[in-house]
Amino acid sequence: MTHIAVLGSTNMDLVAYVAKAPQRGETVTGREFRTIPGGKGANQAVAAAHAGADVSLIGAVGADAFGTQLRSTLEHSGVDTGHLRTIEGPSGTAHIVVDDEGGNAIVVIPGANGTVTALAPGDEGLIAAADALLLQLEIPLDAVIAGAEAARRHGVRTILTPSPAQALPPQLLTSVDLLVPNEHEAAALTGVTDPREAAAALLDQVQEVVVTLGAAGCLYAARGAAPLAVPAPRVTAVDSTGAGDTFVGTLAVALGEGREMPEALAWASAAAALSVQRPGASSSMPYRSEIDAEAGS
Ligand code: RIB
Ligand code: NA
Repeated sequence: MTHIAVLGSTNMDLVAYVAKAPQRGETVTGREFRTIPGGKGANQAVAAAHAGADVSLIGAVGADAFGTQLRSTLEHSGVDTGHLRTIEGPSGTAHIVVDDEGGNAIVVIPGANGTVTALAPGDEGLIAAADALLLQLEIPLDAVIAGAEAARRHGVRTILTPSPAQALPPQLLTSVDLLVPNEHEAAALTGVTDPREAAAALLDQVQEVVVTLGAAGCLYAARGAAPLAVPAPRVTAVDSTGAGDTFVGTLAVALGEGREMPEALAWASAAAALSVQRPGASSSMPYRSEIDAEAGS
């Protein structure tokens, strides 16, 4: 079985579904409110577990009702939470507005995630035993760097989702094997808006890049190889929250199983397409049999 370690955030998503998101100063009446477990780290962990991997999440939740619920949802999905600390204070929350086109706007309040500034005893051993370490940017950068460096020391593949977008120290990128930005993050990192050009620019710093393009699929670029565009299945989105996390979690499992990149990308695209057709983040992540059926494999 493929072993995946995830170092990252766990949030309770507080989601308002509304026809059109309000502008500043405007009040609108929405349709529905839901609380759904999310956070980029937890989402990637759930996606990988559903896709068939053995997964552990390193991070923190608060000592509140959300924290209890977040932990139990992860455990229910089969994610090992032995390295998920419970910290005094609130859990992370994400305040999300989802519109009728399935698009979203999100404010994240880090809460307990903000206390994850370093690896704890035992975390490095867990990373060393994994086939891949998944990282995002919803915990302090010092911890992300420490995780990437630990993975590098043990020859473990490191996959970084540079979200929310921020400047990345070269020290971090040199320890990353595969960078998976969306098109906006790729542009923010490079100053180049064209995804192909942005991917090419990012290859100065990392070996491999996948730029996710939403409904347009994704673009893979690696040093010394021709770029590869992979289309996404055509679907009608109801909620794209966590689609990128589904993509990365599933991709990591496929690569961990030794599949070639084109096949792994098609499988991850199928998983993301399934997730956007269902509400919520972790609640929308497909299981392996569903991904196989969608991918036609
Ligand atoms: O990537 C999606 C996630 O971003 C949501 O689940 C929300 O928690 C925010 O962190
Ligand atoms: Na979804």
